Amino acid sequence: QSKVTISTIAKLHSTQSKITMLTAYDYISAKIADSSGVDIVLVGDSLAMASLGYDDTNEIPFDEFLYHCRAVSRGVERAFVVADLPFGSYESSVAQAVESSIALVSKGRANAVKLEGGKEICATVRRLTELGIPVCGHIGLTPQRANALGGFKSQGKSVQNAIRLYEDALALQEAGCFSMVVEAVPSELAELITEKLDVPTIGIGAGPHTSGQVLVQTDMLGFLGPDAHTPKFVKRYADGFGTCVDAVKQYVKDVQEVSFPEMGKNTYKVKEDVLSGFK
Ligand code: KIV
Ligand code: NA
Repeated sequence: QSKVTISTIAKLHSTQSKITMLTAYDYISAKIADSSGVDIVLVGDSLAMASLGYDDTNEIPFDEFLYHCRAVSRGVERAFVVADLPFGSYESSVAQAVESSIALVSKGRANAVKLEGGKEICATVRRLTELGIPVCGHIGLTPQRANALGGFKSQGKSVQNAIRLYEDALALQEAGCFSMVVEAVPSELAELITEKLDVPTIGIGAGPHTSGQVLVQTDMLGFLGPDAHTPKFVKRYADGFGTCVDAVKQYVKDVQEVSFPEMGKNTYKVKEDVLSGFK
């Protein structure tokens, strides 16, 4: 299958085919996503919590994020790669956003960048778009702004907030976003916004009527273990953690019982003269 480009995504949208996006954090998770046929691999800053064990996505330094972006890109052959602009890498000025985005595209080999916010980031979106860096927006619950939102809360619950969301979506489209993530918003509102826009919406916790869906890979594969908090909008497709722990437990047992390695099956043959010559 040929490489997914921004044109492929526009075509999927124009034919009303759902767009699939999944996060990836390293070479292995990128290969899993890419081999499964997702259209867009997102190097999300959820990386910080979902793969690196930080308490907060805002803790990840840009260089560390870039290092993971490079690993993801090495694992992707087909999908379109979108990289988040992590907290602190784009807010200070348009120039800072340009510099960070160029690093993600050149060193990180991302095909596009994603940044959180509405009208207030449109000058940045416009400049990046002018420079040939496709931009994906991100509205609704914007985790980088959790401190200001009073936590990880669903958005669009009041009339003012809903109108603001809609206006932000239009402004982002106007500024040049090729698509936008809509996170933790009531389904009916996400549907309304999707209908009004010409560019595709990628929903997470935004119901079935967005143009596409995105999930955090470690959440949907159950890799964070039974104690991990998973929001209600996540569907768990596998018990990745449990499956892996069971396999490793079996390995530990096999070694202790000397049933692994198995002679012949997991071992090298010795030549007779080596043994006799050794004595
Ligand atoms: O960082 C991330 O994984 C994201 C998605 C949840 C959209 O931004
Ligand atoms: Na993110």
